[in-house]
Amino acid sequence: MCGIVGFIGNEEAAPILLDGLSRLEYRGYDSTGLAVYGEAEGLQVVKAKGRLKVLSDLTQGGATVHGALGVGHTRWATHGAPSDANSHPQVSESGRFAVVHNGIIENYAEIKEFLQGKGIKFTSQTDTEVVAQLLEYNYHGGLLETVNKTLQRLRGAYALGIVCANHPDMLIAVRQDSPLIIGHGDGFQMLASDVTAVIKYTREVSYLDDGDLAILTADGVEVLDRYRQRVEKPVSHVDWEISAAEKGGYEHFMAKEIMEQPEAFRKTVFPRLRDGKVILDELTYTPEYLKNMDKLYIIACGSSYHVGMVAKYNLEKLLRKPVEVTLASEFRYCDPIVTEHTLALVISQSGETIDTLAAMREAKRLGARVLAVVNVVGSTIAREADDVLYTWAGPEIAVATTKAYSTQLAVTYLIGLYFADQMGVIDKKMYDEIVGQLLQIPTKMEAILEQSKDIQYFASLYFNHPSVFFIGRNIDYAVGLEGSLKLKEISYIHSEAYAAGELKHGTISLIEPGTLVVALASYAPLFEKLMSNVVEVKSRGASVLGLTVESKGEEMVKIVDHTILIPEVHPMLLPSLDVLPMQLFAYHVALQRGCDIDKPRNLAKSVTVE
Ligand code: AGP
Repeated sequence: MCGIVGFIGNEEAAPILLDGLSRLEYRGYDSTGLAVYGEAEGLQVVKAKGRLKVLSDLTQGGATVHGALGVGHTRWATHGAPSDANSHPQVSESGRFAVVHNGIIENYAEIKEFLQGKGIKFTSQTDTEVVAQLLEYNYHGGLLETVNKTLQRLRGAYALGIVCANHPDMLIAVRQDSPLIIGHGDGFQMLASDVTAVIKYTREVSYLDDGDLAILTADGVEVLDRYRQRVEKPVSHVDWEISAAEKGGYEHFMAKEIMEQPEAFRKTVFPRLRDGKVILDELTYTPEYLKNMDKLYIIACGSSYHVGMVAKYNLEKLLRKPVEVTLASEFRYCDPIVTEHTLALVISQSGETIDTLAAMREAKRLGARVLAVVNVVGSTIAREADDVLYTWAGPEIAVATTKAYSTQLAVTYLIGLYFADQMGVIDKKMYDEIVGQLLQIPTKMEAILEQSKDIQYFASLYFNHPSVFFIGRNIDYAVGLEGSLKLKEISYIHSEAYAAGELKHGTISLIEPGTLVVALASYAPLFEKLMSNVVEVKSRGASVLGLTVESKGEEMVKIVDHTILIPEVHPMLLPSLDVLPMQLFAYHVALQRGCDIDKPRNLAKSVTVE
C-alpha cells in the first residue's frame, strides 16, 4: 500500500530517490518523504503531506539535499491521517535512525506504550514510528545487533528501509510479508517495493523473502535469512523497457493500458498456442490428478475475483467439476472445505495482495495444490505457489486494472481448454473452434476500442447520475461486476452489479426515473430473458445503456436508450470483449467528472495490508 525506495552508492541519492518514488506513487500517494545522509550535513529529512510534486518542489528536485545514502517513501495512510508528521521517513528521537515502512506493525500500541514509559516522546500517530524509536532504544553501537533485537519485538507485515547516521556505509533492508527487492548496481545498490523504481538504474534485481535482512553497501549486498545465515539470492535480469511503465503520450496510464489490451492478450495467449493446441509447459498436472480433482477453488480479490466469477461459468461447463469462487479475505476465516484433491486457483495482478497471499498459504496448509495466475514476475504469490502461469500484460501502473484483468481472463480460458483436453472431456470440434476464436480476440478487441468516441458520448450523457446498476445473466453478470467496480473506483459514483433475474427480489425498488441501468446482454441463450428485465426497469423510468452482440442489435435498439454492439464470438470468450466498453465508459465518466483517474482517492495499486 506504500512505496519505499533506498539508495547507497557513488552519487547524490536524493534525485534518484525522487525518481524512484515517481514510479511507485501508484502504490500510495497521501504523502511523501526522504531522508539522506551526507558527511557534512548529517541526516537530512524532508517530508510533506500531498503528492510527490510537493516534496520535489521542497527539495528543488533533490538539489537541496546532499549525500549518497538515503531512503524515500510514498504513503497510503493506515495509522494516522495524511500529514507532515505522519509522513515517512519516521525518525528516532535523537535523529539517529530514519525508517521507511510498507505494511502494518500490529503490536505497535504496546511497543509505543512501553517506550513512552521510558520517557521517549513520539511525534506521530503512525505505527512505523515505533520502529525508529525502538531502534534508538536498542542501540548500543552495533547496527545489526540493534536491528535484530528490534525485529524480535515486531509483529505484523513490514518492508523496511533503515538508515543510521552512525553507520553511513550501510543501508538496511528487511522483509516480512511485504514485497521488497534489491537492485544491484556497479558502485551502488538500491532497495524498492518493486522493480519499476530501480530499472532506470539497474536491471539486475533479486527478491527478498520473508525474514530476510539485507545489508547494502556501495560495493555489494549481503543477505541474511530468518536464521541470520548468509544466503545467496539469485539475481534476475529485468527485460521489459522502462517505457512500459511510462504513459507514452496518453493522458493517463489507464487509457494507455486499456488500449494495450489486444497486444497484452497476444503476448499472453499466442505463445501458448502451438499447432492448434494449448501448450502449458509450466504445468505439471497429470490427467489422473485432474480427473480426481474434487473442487477447483478460485481465490482472489477485487477485479481478480471478478475474473474468477467469469471462470466459474466457463470451467464448470468445460470440466464438469465443481468450481467455487471466493473472496480471499473470506476464505481465510470460513473454515473452508479443502482436501488433497482440491486445486486452488489463486489470481493476482500484483502477486502481493496480502489477503490473497494469506489465503493461498491457508489453502496450502489445508492440503490443496496451488496454481497462481500472476502478472508480476518474482512476486511473493508467484514464488510460493506450486505452479505459476504468468500473464504477460507488462507493468500495470493505473490503480484500476484493465489489461491485467483481460490477460487473467485469457489465462483462465487456456486453463479450461488445457485441463479439458488432459481429462479427455472436450470434443475436438469444440476445442478447435474455441482455440480458433482465441486467435481472433485481439482483432475484435481493436474493433471495439475504436468505438471509444461513442462510449465517450454515452459517458457525457450519464456522468452525473448518482447511482448506476449493471445487470446481466450468466457471464454477463460476472462482467457486470467488473464494470461496476471500474466505475466506482475511478468516478466515485455508487454502482452495483446485479444478476438480472434477482433484481425483482427487492433491489428493483431503487429503480426510479433517471436511474441508469447498464444492461449486458451478450450471452445469446439468455438474451430474451435479459430484455424482459430491461423492460421491467424501463417501465419504472430507468435509462438503459445496453450492450449486446451485433446479431441482436436490431432487437435491443427498439427497447433501450443507447446500444453498444460487440462482434460475435464463442460465448466462453465474450467477457474479453464485453469488458472493454465497461472500462471505456468508466474512464470517460471519470474524465468528465474531473477525477484523478490513475490515482483514485483512498486506493492503492497493491493492497498489502489486511
Ligand atoms: C481493480 O481495479 C482494483 N485495483 C482492485 O480491486 C484489485 O483488483 C484488487 O486489489 C486485487 O489486486 P491483485 O490482482 O493485485 O491481487
